[in-house]
Amino acid sequence: MASTEMIQRVSDTQGRPAWLVSGHERVRELLADPRLSRSHPNPGHPVRLTQPGLFGGPIPDPEAELADLHRMRKLLTPLLSARRLESLRPRVETIVDTLLDELHRSGPPADFHTAVAFPLPALVICELLGLPAQDHADFCRWQIEAKQVSKPAVARGGLQSLWRYLGTLIERKRWVPGDDVISDLLDAANLDPQLTDDGIAHLAAGLLFAGHAPVVAIIDRGMLLLLTHPEQRAALQSDPTLAAQAIEEIFRFASPIERMRAARRGGLTRYASADIEVDGVTLRAGDTVMFAVQEANEDENVFPDPKRFDITRERIPHLSLSHGAHFCLGAHLARLELRYLFVSLLQRFPALRLAVPLEEIPPLREAVAGAVSELPVAW
Ligand code: HEM
Repeated sequence: MASTEMIQRVSDTQGRPAWLVSGHERVRELLADPRLSRSHPNPGHPVRLTQPGLFGGPIPDPEAELADLHRMRKLLTPLLSARRLESLRPRVETIVDTLLDELHRSGPPADFHTAVAFPLPALVICELLGLPAQDHADFCRWQIEAKQVSKPAVARGGLQSLWRYLGTLIERKRWVPGDDVISDLLDAANLDPQLTDDGIAHLAAGLLFAGHAPVVAIIDRGMLLLLTHPEQRAALQSDPTLAAQAIEEIFRFASPIERMRAARRGGLTRYASADIEVDGVTLRAGDTVMFAVQEANEDENVFPDPKRFDITRERIPHLSLSHGAHFCLGAHLARLELRYLFVSLLQRFPALRLAVPLEEIPPLREAVAGAVSELPVAW
């Protein structure tokens, strides 16, 4: 591909002009470019942010965004490290085992999306935050309500309930700390007076929102990919040590549902905070820049035979968890839950199959690419 094609003039979802960056190398390079921010440099711009700041409220400008980002990452990185998460592993495994028991009881056929993919990451976040088991159901319900953008009153109610609950939980953890992120953040607050209870609640809510929908989508995607690629699924079934590679390949590869529908080319979005010269074009300060992440994940310069789903690939430098300053903070947690889930699933349900033709699986209208609203399976 000629280098000038890596940066193209396109329209964003609202029909406004934007740049689209494609090609693995360019996407990787520009995702790490500090002159591209999630907040817009012009306060009058209609879209200021592609994602709310985890400390809550609008982030005023790219500089403040950077300060907020550094602070947030410094606090959360050690709490979500592979080492720290080892103590969560047995609880994640228990959640997976319990959900698979329920799946078994409820079918066949059963809706894998509702029985496993949707609740699993929410329950894992409950454990991560240290919620008592009796509060999990309410917390998960408020979370679902809070995301109902088409019903603003319901969404507001859900968000308020979450917010009130987090306030009470933080107060409780102050007196009775546990082995969880909220207790760790309270410890951090002893050394950092800027970290208030509100700040802790924002971080907790941020983890809940960042750590749910994308994981649900990847679980559904992994299931669809394994069930439609029998030889790959057989390989994982007979050799569970392939799980780590299999999960990275699932991150990289679009699901058969995504492939059947016209793919959206944009993925992550940023705004230029300064003029940037790249490949002979100038991205002006204020310009919108979108990244064709899925295309980058199928760049033949990086992935041999890129349209083949192959869980035995040795190197899988996909960009589905972003790259650079915003690289996903929940990557270790996501990998921990996904690896255990898929290995256990295939061991416990060796004859698992789709219960309806692929074309009948309904996509989720809003939100995350490739997400479905039902995934009927039988065994
Ligand atoms: C498996 C599914 C997941 C996917 C595909 C995913 C994807 C991403 C992506 C693409 C970003 C970067 C956004 C950007 O560059 O603008 C991101 C950031 C983030 N993710 Fe994940 N994520 C997943 C799971 C999780 C989990 C389980 C958690 C936490 C419990 C989490 C927490 C975060 C946080 C806190 C950020 C913000 C990092 C920052 O802005 O610096 N993610 N994730």
